[in-house]
Amino acid sequence: MLKIHNVQVSVEGKHILNGVDIEIKPGEIHAIMGPNGSGKSTLAYTLAGHPKYHVDGGEIGLDGINILDQSPDLRARSGLFLAFQYPVEIAGVSVQNFLRVAYEAKFGKLKSIIEFRKHLQELAEELHVKKELVERSLNDGFSGGEKKRVEILQMAALQPKYAVLDETDSGLDVDAIKTIAEGVRAIVKKHKTGVIVITHYQRILKYLKPDKVHVMVKGKIIKSGGKSFAQELEKSGYAAYV
Ligand SMILES: Nc1ncnc2c1ncn2[C@@H]1O[C@H](COP(=O)(O)OP(=O)(O)O)[C@@H](O)[C@H]1O
Ligand SMILES: [Mg+2]
Repeated sequence: MLKIHNVQVSVEGKHILNGVDIEIKPGEIHAIMGPNGSGKSTLAYTLAGHPKYHVDGGEIGLDGINILDQSPDLRARSGLFLAFQYPVEIAGVSVQNFLRVAYEAKFGKLKSIIEFRKHLQELAEELHVKKELVERSLNDGFSGGEKKRVEILQMAALQPKYAVLDETDSGLDVDAIKTIAEGVRAIVKKHKTGVIVITHYQRILKYLKPDKVHVMVKGKIIKSGGKSFAQELEKSGYAAYV
């Protein structure tokens, strides 16, 4: 399980997270909701090991191993994945080459590059990603929706144990949100991935059907609940809890 226990984080001397507790088991989907500036992305970057985010206290364990001393690449190799709120554009590196290198770093040398490319094409089709995007430079000139879908394609290709999706639904229309939510559910079903979906909007909950929802305000989880709480938030939003 991914165990986040009493995590306190500061950025440039400013306290942002004031003791966050969340436990995600394999195959579970958790949603974290909350207003802008409440610390959701800070939690995502902290999990991934961004050097700017200083952990002042608490523990983060991945399947029983403390990952706080691990570098971001080691965390990724251990099975952690972050889909960025603002995906980075890398001109000159194609999506398929980027994913091939990442895949080989994690799983070892591929037997066949052609087979891997075919596999990526199949994943792209399942996730409604235009096939040509796989051959283009990573996120370079992609639309907002294309970037977000390609983040999910990366997650599908790298088969993480635990994934954090930071506002993957923002800026997308309802059809795209539905596709992404279905894509996430399919990956969870296939690989037993434990997923944290950070979102600003209740509309994704309908398609995502999370096992748990947490409301974060001012660097703390102020309320958590199961399916019925998720349904309540899907209808009324979280404003009443803030
Ligand atoms: N790199 C940073 N430098 C300075 N302040 C930051 C940095 N990252 C986040 N913060 C501050 O931390 C707070 C939480 O931000 P963030 O985690 O991005 O919130 P959310 O994702 O919930 O909108 C905000 O007040 C933000 O300005
Ligand atoms: Mg954010």
